[in-house]
Amino acid sequence: MSTAMVASRALQERLDSARKLTDYVFSLLKPEALYSRPIPERHRLIFYLGHLEAFDWNLIARKTLDVPSFHPAFDKLFEFGIDPPVGQVAADEPSDWPRVDEIRSYNQRVRGALDQLIEQAPEEIAHVAIEHRLMHAETLAYLLHNVPYDQKASASMPLSYSSQALSAVPMIEIAPGLATLGQKPGSFGWDNEFAEHQVQVPGFRIGKYKVTNGQYLDFVRTGGASPPHFWTERHGRSFYHGMFAEIPLPLNAPVYVTHAEASAYASAAGKSLPTEPQFHRAGYASSVSGGASKNNKRPFPWGHAEPSAKRGNFDFHQWDPLDVDAHPAGDSAFGVSQLVGNGWEWTATKFGPFPGFEPRPFYPGYSQNFFDDEHYVIKGGSPVTAACMLRRSFRNWFRPNYPYVYASFRLVEN
Ligand SMILES: [Fe+2]
Repeated sequence: MSTAMVASRALQERLDSARKLTDYVFSLLKPEALYSRPIPERHRLIFYLGHLEAFDWNLIARKTLDVPSFHPAFDKLFEFGIDPPVGQVAADEPSDWPRVDEIRSYNQRVRGALDQLIEQAPEEIAHVAIEHRLMHAETLAYLLHNVPYDQKASASMPLSYSSQALSAVPMIEIAPGLATLGQKPGSFGWDNEFAEHQVQVPGFRIGKYKVTNGQYLDFVRTGGASPPHFWTERHGRSFYHGMFAEIPLPLNAPVYVTHAEASAYASAAGKSLPTEPQFHRAGYASSVSGGASKNNKRPFPWGHAEPSAKRGNFDFHQWDPLDVDAHPAGDSAFGVSQLVGNGWEWTATKFGPFPGFEPRPFYPGYSQNFFDDEHYVIKGGSPVTAACMLRRSFRNWFRPNYPYVYASFRLVEN
């Protein structure tokens, strides 16, 4: 078999497995939930059922290979998601959307056609379709998280948490030096990951662990904040509202909060959130000797080994977070734990272009539409971030008061 054929077969397999994953997430929804809107600032779930295929079809068939449309109305209806300011909700009704069987037959036809066409598309385009779908597997999980328990099938996995709250969290000294941000030319990445560049970072101290529910609970109890979106308060007790069940608040699991909540906690503690370069500096040194680091270009905090469940909580092994000290095998060379997985981490950095940024002609608005000073960079990855997006250069971004993301944080002293 030629190298090109091997590469195209590998891409088809990745696409098939991404399709299986998103099909699985949809299968957890009871039919009556499909027309609901679990997050007010996002489309009804039914939109996403059509969007995944419409995106692939528009990108690969129409824009790249110039294949004529067989259903222009659906291509357009399902083309784009929405991201209005929090509180600004859409006004459409369930009856404004097509029937499920119509969408499913569109999807089936798209998949059949694309399976014949995909090997004619440039490899980068196929990667874009696959990662777009995997990103939606994660956003579908956020949406599903907010669907009432009786409208989804249970797929809970047993979780175990330590009952002893962590005492003081060690702060780790990071010596001044270089951080490498961005993606190498020739490697796959989204437009905002380019160009690769280095930044000089002054010395700072960073929490070994993410801030926990237990620590945040103290902040709430002393009047510092209201309970975050993922908690339920009952009879004076706090519970974590998990994907498939509510459980007593796991005190050592990371707290999921908004950027505004994370910033308020940090400033009450006299500390800060890490900047994007500080996150890279703490995470990607290849070795540390006498406090100095060498070559901040490891692919993962733990080194070169491919992501696996012992290194962190990612890639759909769990729906919910584990304790912050559950993955010592994933520590960075500086000894910082769980920089990747178990919850994205908010940074103090507003989402913007790297020097040399160029939008891609096939998706010019992917990043550019969000360079508006109203979104912050999150790094790392959550329990439902696919392994391919754990690469060092991958960046994600959200509004500072958007409460639905699996986003945690850790503290920095400058
Ligand atoms: Fe999308």
